[in-house]
Amino acid sequence: MSKLIVANFKMNGTKSSITQWFNDFSMEKNISNEVIVALPALFLFDFADNNISVAAQNVSSHSSGAYTSQISAEMLKDCGINYSIIGHSESREFLKETDEDIFNKYNQLIKYSIKPIICIGEPLKIREDNLLQSFISSQLKQFEDTDNELIIAYEPIWAIGSGLIPTVEDINEVSELIRGLCKNVKILYGGSVNEENASNLLNNSNIDGVLVGGASLDPKEFANIAQSC
Ligand code: 13P
Repeated sequence: MSKLIVANFKMNGTKSSITQWFNDFSMEKNISNEVIVALPALFLFDFADNNISVAAQNVSSHSSGAYTSQISAEMLKDCGINYSIIGHSESREFLKETDEDIFNKYNQLIKYSIKPIICIGEPLKIREDNLLQSFISSQLKQFEDTDNELIIAYEPIWAIGSGLIPTVEDINEVSELIRGLCKNVKILYGGSVNEENASNLLNNSNIDGVLVGGASLDPKEFANIAQSC
């Protein structure tokens, strides 16, 4: 079955470097998996009309009003955006977003038929203290009752940008937990995915795709990841 391969550029790139990225990536052949690229908000409109889907990296939890600097789901839809990451650990940490905020963002996106890519994942201390299951369950609590198809990206915080990666068994344990809690779910793994480890992750674990940060900035490496299953 086709996998979902998502790039998260985070706060990287300029209009010209991203144009170059799309040009280089479009030269890559034999990619049968679905590819989505999450761009900095400022560039979404420029690249929305592309044969590769683009995603926002965040959205406001409010519909409109006095929320200086924020971007609403309605605005994303108006610019032709059909996906948005929410709940990324960097947004949770730096923007102090709570599970409740993330659920409100989810509802805003659903209202405008934008597919949320919901990020969850534990800090190392939680794993060391054997609190993983309760931590993941609490992050997913608000999503348990929905029949909507969910895309959940499991990104252990300690694996992001660190070069550390959980074993396939560790990933499978969490993905089974997620599948037990949510009815209709696609699971992505994110955290230090690169062209060397992608094939093992995609072919041997119980996931539906990957969410790639640093390694997605090189179009050739990202294409190798997208071709690895
Ligand atoms: P890295 O692939 O750079 O570890 O980042 C993962 C991530 O945060 C993707 O959203």
